[in-house]
Amino acid sequence: MMQNGQPWLDTTGQPIHAHGGCILKYQDWYYWYGEDRRADYYVSCYRSQDLMHWEFRNHILTTTSPFKAERFQATAGLVNSDGTKVNIERPKVLYNPKTERFVLWAHFENGRDYREAAVLVASAATPDGDFTEHGHFRPFGNMSRDCTVFVDADQAYFISAARGNADIHIYQLSSDYLNVTRLVNRLWSNEFREAPVLFKHDGLYYMLTSGTSGWRPNQGKYAVASAIAGSWSDLQDFGDATTFDSQPAFVLKNGNQVIYVGDRWGGAKHYQDSSYVFLPLEITSQQVILKHKARWFIAAHNFVFKD
Ligand code: GAL
Repeated sequence: MMQNGQPWLDTTGQPIHAHGGCILKYQDWYYWYGEDRRADYYVSCYRSQDLMHWEFRNHILTTTSPFKAERFQATAGLVNSDGTKVNIERPKVLYNPKTERFVLWAHFENGRDYREAAVLVASAATPDGDFTEHGHFRPFGNMSRDCTVFVDADQAYFISAARGNADIHIYQLSSDYLNVTRLVNRLWSNEFREAPVLFKHDGLYYMLTSGTSGWRPNQGKYAVASAIAGSWSDLQDFGDATTFDSQPAFVLKNGNQVIYVGDRWGGAKHYQDSSYVFLPLEITSQQVILKHKARWFIAAHNFVFKD
């Protein structure tokens, strides 16, 4: 039984450090990637076959990750000139079947403030191997903070908070997933949404976001569209005024089940105490309802939630 908001341990009994992350299913395994701010780490990777027992695999991105330039102009560097760590947030990993590479997109900051507002790209040949950094840049010169990725059939997208977090941008990615090719949508001007999560359900696209109140949780909102580049609905509330004390990280689809995964942040002082919540999202007639549940387990490959 997993207790939402409590520390979750890996198979060696160590707390799982995969904050603001994502889960990627590849072959027989689920890979869970996320922020790990300890020591010289940035992103860590765990894997599981049942979504409950997580084996630590690797610190896939660290201060000493190798660098390889790609064709886009990007700034190299996973440490500042004074030797301090930069800040890598909300890492998301995609598998590219054409290049057979795992491509990571994340929010890049200098570790002192949030003025860099850039995106970092890295890639690897295996899901849990050492990733090679390809540098950070601003997509088409735009500020880019909280972010996510989404693949729809053959086309991949990068979604991030732009213009000082005032707008959400959706970019198409190149076929190798290593660059943006087109800004296809700018959403909810001046609504200041962040922590975007995009998923598809019953042929429609749903985007979850939070408001902008730093580590403190706020009212989650969602919107619906029939095409990613088309018009999106107005923002509507889901969950309660604090999204049940969480901020969206990603959505996990398990057959017909849509699972909301959120971060319950410890905040700046207690970041290492941050935990996770897995909650059921119910979608009927394009309405998204987040249910509050204290615990869950997996039985016959399905999530079973308990109050
Ligand atoms: C939140 C954001 C987090 C982190 C935090 C820092 O708004 O979603 O990813 O950047 O601010 O205060």
